[in-house]
This record gives sequence, C-alpha cells and structure tokens, in this order.
Amino acid sequence: MHLGQDMNKNMRVVASGAPLVSEIDRWIRTHLQQVIDKNGTATIALAGGSTPKVVYQALSKAEFAWDKLHVFWGDERFVPSSHPDSNEKMARENWLDLVAMPAANIHPWPTTAGTPEQCAELYGAELAKYFAAPQPSFDLVLLGMGEDGHTASLFPHTAALGVVDRSTTVGQKDGQPRLTLTVPAINNAACVAFIITGASKRPALKQVMAAAADSQEYPTRLIQPTGELIWWFDEAAAADLDNLG
Ligand code: 6PG
Repeated sequence: MHLGQDMNKNMRVVASGAPLVSEIDRWIRTHLQQVIDKNGTATIALAGGSTPKVVYQALSKAEFAWDKLHVFWGDERFVPSSHPDSNEKMARENWLDLVAMPAANIHPWPTTAGTPEQCAELYGAELAKYFAAPQPSFDLVLLGMGEDGHTASLFPHTAALGVVDRSTTVGQKDGQPRLTLTVPAINNAACVAFIITGASKRPALKQVMAAAADSQEYPTRLIQPTGELIWWFDEAAAADLDNLG
C-alpha cells in the first residue's frame, strides 16, 4: 500500500523529548478511556526497546482506571522476565508495577515455558482464549521501528514475515529467537500507533513511507491495520518526510 499522501492526517511530528512524550501519554490515555467508556475494558499490546520507556514512565504518573486495562506485549525476547533485555521487565519497572493494575490484567509472554515455539504457541492460545477468536483484536498496539525497518520482532527477510495462519510466531534476530505477534495479529487491531524517534530511523522510515519499496526488506510496510494507523515522530526521525500534514 502506498503510505504516502493519504497517511499525512495520521502522522504527528512533535518536538523531541518532553513535548512528544507528553502528547503521546495524553493521546494513549484519551484513546483507551474512550474504549473503556464504550466497552468497559480496553486492551493494549506494548512495544519493547528503548523508545517507549519514557512514555511508560509518563503513564505511570497518571490517574487512570488501570483495573480496566489489559496489557499484552507485541513481542518479547526469549529471556526470563528478570533479564535486562526483557520487554516485560522494562514495562513493569517503568509503569505497570508502579500503578494499581491487578496482576491478572498483565499478560506477559511465557518465556520460560519451554522452547521458543512452545512459548509462542502458549501465548497464541492465551490470546485466542482472551479474545475468543483466532486472531486478537487489540484496541491499541504500540510499535517501534528499528533502524533496519523491522517492527515488533518481524525482522527483514525472516520466515516470521510470512506467517499468516496464527497470531504468534518465533522471529529471528541475528540467529537468536524472538517471540512476536504475526503481521495478521497486528493488522487485526482497532488501532496501531508507531512511536519513532531519532535521526537514525530516517533512512528506514523513508523506505517505509515510499510509494514502492520491498516489504521484506522493510517489514514495517507490512503493518496495514484494518483500523487506525497513527505515526508519532520527533522532528529528527521525520526530517525526510515531506508534505506531512
Ligand atoms: C524490541 C521491540 C522492537 C523495537 C525496535 C525499536 O523488542 O526491541 O519490540 O521492535 O520497537 O527495535 O527499538 P528502539 O525503540 O529501542 O529504537
């Protein structure tokens, strides 16, 4: 899909640091509150890596009906939750363990339950049970993008990009297993929001937004949700994207 012109309305460029964090924090809470007002509860799948950490820190300071939110992860490293690389550990330390969120509302990948394939299968079963459907329909999926154009743990030219018959799979990064939602599982979300900052992401972002580029090379291009697709950039990341609305 050509992401160019028609995407401008969903692209937001904000000054790096506190201004961007504050806008994203407020937008996430407003978005989730609207879902809770309508449905009674809301679901979110979190991004890992370093970029969202400051957003999670801001969320941890907010007044919110955390008991109405169920938290999942879009991807996870194949490590225990005590490991410094764990996305679960990062989100708990910076947000989830700092607010009144019931333990039952937090749904981490079972990274110590067996092989990576077994972990992915167990998480897929948990998603199927929670959403009562083969694919989850998250109210909101937060994603980052790597300098290579990957998102979640959907890395360039890996088999994970082509897995469409289930909601979870095992990704590969430099030969190491990573646990990830599949493209269809992400695209089935009501809303997907990317948070992309820093000049280092500019080359990949330009390819992601180009009229034509290889989605196997830039897997972020595969994220084309049936619902909303929102892009949050700081000025450094968005510098090459002309005609932003
Ligand atoms: C992970 C993330 C991954 C991340 C990108 C961007 O597990 O690392 O899910 O997809 O979002 O690699 O990472 P940064 O935000 O740290 O640049």
